[in-house]
Amino acid sequence: VTEPTGTSQIESLLEAFSRRFGPGPAARIYRGPGRVNLIGEHTDYSAGFVLPAALQLACFVATAPNPEGRLRVFSEDLNQSREWGIEAVGSLRPAGDWGDYVAGVAGQLVRSGFDLEPANLLIRSTVPVGAGLSSSAALETSIALALLGGRPIERLELVRLCRRAENEFVGMPCGIMDQYISVFGREGAAVRIDCRSLEHEVVCLPGDLEIVAVNSMVKHELGQSAYRDRVRECKEAVEAIRQVYPKVESLRDVSPALFDETAARIPEIPRKRARHVVGENQRVARFMGAAARGDVAEMGALFVASHRSLEHDFEVSCEELDFLVEAALASPAVLGARMTGGGFGGCTVNLLRPGHGAEFARGVTEAYQRGFGITPDVILCRPSAGAGEVLP
Ligand code: GLA
Repeated sequence: VTEPTGTSQIESLLEAFSRRFGPGPAARIYRGPGRVNLIGEHTDYSAGFVLPAALQLACFVATAPNPEGRLRVFSEDLNQSREWGIEAVGSLRPAGDWGDYVAGVAGQLVRSGFDLEPANLLIRSTVPVGAGLSSSAALETSIALALLGGRPIERLELVRLCRRAENEFVGMPCGIMDQYISVFGREGAAVRIDCRSLEHEVVCLPGDLEIVAVNSMVKHELGQSAYRDRVRECKEAVEAIRQVYPKVESLRDVSPALFDETAARIPEIPRKRARHVVGENQRVARFMGAAARGDVAEMGALFVASHRSLEHDFEVSCEELDFLVEAALASPAVLGARMTGGGFGGCTVNLLRPGHGAEFARGVTEAYQRGFGITPDVILCRPSAGAGEVLP
C-alpha cells in the first residue's frame, strides 16, 4: 500500500472541496496521522510507557468558512454529511456514529473556551478504519486543528482535548497514546511516551530496519466491551495491591518484585492482566536499551515476548493475529512480530531486516490466503510528523 502525498493530494483535496461546497474562499488543509505502536501495549491507561510512531497514513480535513452560520461536514470515504447550526454544536448529544468524533471535538473546544466559527469541512482519510492504526485519533486531531483554523493551541492541550472527546463524548475509555502520538509524531522516529508525566523522548531505530504492518482485515465485535473489561481488571489488580501498598496508584507503580510479592492477593484474572502490564513496561525499557545498542535480535525477541503476553495473559489477541505472527516468524528476514493496538483483529507489526519488505509481503500474503482465505493489506510504515497544517 503506497500513500498519496505531496502536491497531487493537496490539489485533489481542494478540487473535491470546491466540488462539494462550491466556489468560495480558499480552503486550508489540516492533517492528523494514524499510528503504529511498536511496543508498550495496553499500558497507557495504567499510566505506563508506550513506544508508537506516527504514520504517513493520515486523515486530511479541508476547511473554509461557511457563510450561513453552520458547521457542515462531509466524509468523502463514507459519502455522508453532518450539519449543525454553529450555536448548537457545543451541546450536542452522541448519535453513535462517526459524526460523534467531530461533535465531540467541537464540544471540547467550546468547553476549553474557543469560539467555534461556522465552517465547511471535507474529510478524507487514508488510515484504514478498524485496523488498529488509530483512524479515530487521526480524525480527532485533524478536525480539532481544522476547527481552530490556525488559532494557536498548546500541543498537550490539543492531545488532552481530543482524548476527552473520545472518553466523554464517544464513550470509549481509551488511554492517551493515540492522540498523543498523532500530535507529537516525528519524521523517521518512534516516540517513547511516559503516560503519567506526559513527557516524551524521540527514539531512532538502528540501521534501516523496516517496520511493516499487516492488516488481518478482521475486527471482532468483542473488542469494545473487552477493552472496558481490561481497564476495569487493571483497576481491580491495583485495588488488591493497595491493600498492602496504599501508595500504589496504578500498575505503573508496580515493579516485577512488588508484583511477585503481592500476586497471591490478586484475583486470578486481574493478576494475569497485571502481569502483562508490569512485564510490558519492562519490555519498553529493555527495547529502548536494545535500540540504543543496536541489538536488533533483542528488539525482535521483545516484540515476540510482548505478543505472547498479550495472547496469554492480557488475552486481547485472536486466531488471525496469532497466525500472522507465526507466519511472520517463519521468515528469516523477520526479527520480531506482534499484534499492535487494541487487539481482537486489526494489524500485526513486524520488524524486518532492511531490504526484505517485498519478499516478506509476498510470503505473509500467501500464508494468510491459504490459512484464512483473506488477502491482508501489507503496509510499509514510514514514521512521520505529527498533526499540523498542510501547506501548499
Ligand atoms: C487503543 C487505545 C489506546 C491503547 C491501545 C492499546 O488503541 O485507544 O489508548 O490503550 O488500544 O495499547
